[in-house]
Amino acid sequence: MASGLFRKKSIEKIISDQQEMEALEGASMVRNLGVRDLTFLGVAAIIGASIFSAIGQASANGGPAVSLLFVFTAVACLFTAFCYARFAATVPISGSAYTYAYTSLGEIIAWILGWNLLLEYAISNVAVAISWSKYFVDLCEGLGLHIPEYLTMDFLSAKRAFTEVQPLINSGKQLSELSVNLREGYTAYLEAPVFLGWHFVANLPALFITICITYLVYIGIKESKNMNNALVVMKLLVIALVVGIGAFYVKVENWSPFAPNGIAGVLKSVAAVCFAYIGFDSISTTAEECKNPQRDIPRAMMWALGICTILYVLVTLVLTGIVPSAGLAGIEDPLAYMFTIVGLHGVAGVVAASAVIALTSALLVYQLGQPRIWMTMSRDGLLPKAFSKIHPKYRTPSFSTIMTGVLVGLPALFANLEEVINLSSIGTLFAFVLVCGGVLILDLNPENQKKSKFKIPYINAKYVVGGSLLVAMYLFYPESIGDWFNVHFTGNAKADSWIMSLFFVAWFVLAFFSYTKNLSLIPVLGLLVNLYLMTQMGSANWERFIYWCLVGVVIYFAYGYKRSKLKL
Ligand code: ALA
Repeated sequence: MASGLFRKKSIEKIISDQQEMEALEGASMVRNLGVRDLTFLGVAAIIGASIFSAIGQASANGGPAVSLLFVFTAVACLFTAFCYARFAATVPISGSAYTYAYTSLGEIIAWILGWNLLLEYAISNVAVAISWSKYFVDLCEGLGLHIPEYLTMDFLSAKRAFTEVQPLINSGKQLSELSVNLREGYTAYLEAPVFLGWHFVANLPALFITICITYLVYIGIKESKNMNNALVVMKLLVIALVVGIGAFYVKVENWSPFAPNGIAGVLKSVAAVCFAYIGFDSISTTAEECKNPQRDIPRAMMWALGICTILYVLVTLVLTGIVPSAGLAGIEDPLAYMFTIVGLHGVAGVVAASAVIALTSALLVYQLGQPRIWMTMSRDGLLPKAFSKIHPKYRTPSFSTIMTGVLVGLPALFANLEEVINLSSIGTLFAFVLVCGGVLILDLNPENQKKSKFKIPYINAKYVVGGSLLVAMYLFYPESIGDWFNVHFTGNAKADSWIMSLFFVAWFVLAFFSYTKNLSLIPVLGLLVNLYLMTQMGSANWERFIYWCLVGVVIYFAYGYKRSKLKL
């Protein structure tokens, strides 16, 4: 059984299967994308809900120092991007990380990874749709069109606001004295139609945009590409506007203190910042539609990461330089909000309007990526055949595209932004960990290294990993081993502390293999940094993530294990 679970697909088999598929009339997709399109696709995916929405709360938590977290996370992504590029150059197939894991780590890990890519693509798009909706509603308000609050937000936020506000109102507080978020949530809950005791609060604009994008993706990659390139230019212009005009209103004294809530405050924003980088890897899902995937995918990833990091750091500094970070708590449209604060209402309006367009491009990429991953999983027999069906006229994976629309559109009606971001980030980091691990395993065989047209610069990890572990243990675990056992085995250990300890165990294992096998440093660092970021996600988030993985495993045994093409 174990050998069945870890059966691997050989690189040769993957490539020959793909050529067979392409030879079948109507089964192949069109090779249309060059390095510029791919970079645009990356930027379109990366810049989305985080910078337009989540950056507000992230800056409130961590202050201007969140800009450093952006740099740190970018480094983690860069290490990971090398690993993605290494795989994409070897196996240029739409399945992205899923396919990579299939060649290196075995079927069940590939399945779990594919299952987690659902969090990265479909579930993250729920967040982008929610963010889009927020700016869309702002825009409508600006144009004098009021959409009732209960049709513009999720039930949970409204219910929470109601529970918080009701006692305040009872104690004599006026609604106008409360923050915008609380006011809106309270009004939404109060005014919502009630069915069988349930208040109907739902985010209709989020559903609406999901339907539109699904249609666009359904009718073809070419149309999507042209549309996407135009939208990205628009997105870059908004960010340039925010930074260019905002810079004149920065008050340097707002940057002090740089980290008002210390390191803990900065690390509270890990999920939002990781979420901000989700998407650089989505470039690899279009491998079957690239003119020259081996050359262009790695280049496009580096370009996209570099451009976005610079923009993120600049936006964070401008935002926290204009609004003292505490004032950004709960603000979901911070880029428009900061201009309102300095009295530039016209600019705020322009930013809100362009954000609507900019966010549309982020939505597009994920709606494009998810069906292509499913398509690959279905070709391997792990999902029903319908998922790999290519539309005879549009040449897109039609059924998968519609399913993605359903899977994004329905939760977007009811989901809460923060929770979606948390779940999506932890799932994505896990996928990154597996991709880095996959490269390490793949490259244990020197033959595999020769086959790749992209080489990760090799630095021997032999002493670095173990040495850095000793330093880190000294810094993080100054107490004696005896104390450690007391804390962890006497019932006082908090889940977070366990998670951190397990991270050190993983570091130790990597140090061991780095020493014995002379592993390559870049994938090892990618693996470690991504694991570290996962440790900062909080135990509640881990719990949900573990349940998510368990559901995936059950589905695998119920369907894919028996039907896998490798079994037949
Ligand atoms: N990186 C994407 C965003 O921030 C998911 O919306």
